[in-house]
Amino acid sequence: MNILGIDTSCDDTSAAILSDGGIVLSNVVNSQIKLHHPYGGVVPELASREHIRNISPVVNESLSRANITINEVAGIAVTSGPGLIGSLLVGLYYAKGLALARKIPLVAVNHLEGHILSVLLEDRPPGFPFVALTVSGGHTSLYHVTGQGEYRQMGQTLDDAAGEAFDKVAKVLGLGYPGGAGILAMALSGKKDLIDFPRAQISADSLDFSFSGLKTSVSLFIEKWKGSERKQSEIKREDIAASFQEAVIDILAQKSIKAVEKAGVNSMVVAGGVACNKALRLRLTEETEKRGIAFYYPRPAYCTDNGAMIALAGHYRIMRGEQSGQSEDVRSRFPVEDIKQITTKK
Ligand code: KG4
Ligand code: ZN
Repeated sequence: MNILGIDTSCDDTSAAILSDGGIVLSNVVNSQIKLHHPYGGVVPELASREHIRNISPVVNESLSRANITINEVAGIAVTSGPGLIGSLLVGLYYAKGLALARKIPLVAVNHLEGHILSVLLEDRPPGFPFVALTVSGGHTSLYHVTGQGEYRQMGQTLDDAAGEAFDKVAKVLGLGYPGGAGILAMALSGKKDLIDFPRAQISADSLDFSFSGLKTSVSLFIEKWKGSERKQSEIKREDIAASFQEAVIDILAQKSIKAVEKAGVNSMVVAGGVACNKALRLRLTEETEKRGIAFYYPRPAYCTDNGAMIALAGHYRIMRGEQSGQSEDVRSRFPVEDIKQITTKK
């Protein structure tokens, strides 16, 4: 059974073909990075216009790379939220039209469910239950995952997402958008213990995150640093990048280990765009190894936004006999706990 998965939640137009819930026949991503780069962030109006231009070619490309025709697609999974409304509308309405014309099932998927399950696309996936840390440009959350479709949020960011902090600091350091990869590269030759940026704790047993204080603190530091020749001779740009990255990693590692202990599970997963960060993966590997916790992460192409993870989440739902109707609408906010509301049994 081939499922077409579509994601247009933010600035990537993605489509993938997943066969039998396990084999990714194609995974096409049309990135809009160049378009948004001059603005230092995603411009929603430009993103949705670009999705309109790209959606058809990207879906066609996913079919041709998979070496199948639309007649061989058994169902369509599409992200309906959370994300940018204008961007989501393009994917959802394209999918609705295609499903109607082809008379095949349509299933609306929560983007976060896609990130949580993306690790199951790998050859040696974890079994349930596990704790998933999803870190991206829009989200930073911890989930207790007990099965397909069974997610309990344990913590979330109260302000900015970790990826947003990476992007903002990268912008101030002149690295452009998106900033995650640039900070990682710059941090490699910096001293991570040189500047003690704040690690917001919220409260001792809270699993919530806060990155806006860190973001502001780093920005203010850079402003002062730029205005002082003495500071610039003592501290390199690379040291700021490394010390900032270390602060983010400390917070993410500490809270996710706490979540694993609280949930009483033995496996941990990290997913989402920021999970591409090798320093984060390395720290989580060390921390989990020390405690005998099994640790899993998807390859970078399944960490950043992609259609394959949406196809996988949709595959499970279609297999369970769930379907979405033509009245399905987009949602800018969409907690995973609300997933059950979007699907109806056939
Ligand atoms: O999951 P994603 O592609 O889109 C959202 O759903 O938001 O994540 C994009 C985020 C951006 O903030 C980008 O800077 C970050 O992932 N990112 C990274 C790295 N590669 C991408 N952050 C840290 N280190 C990286 N290597
Ligand atoms: Zn995402």
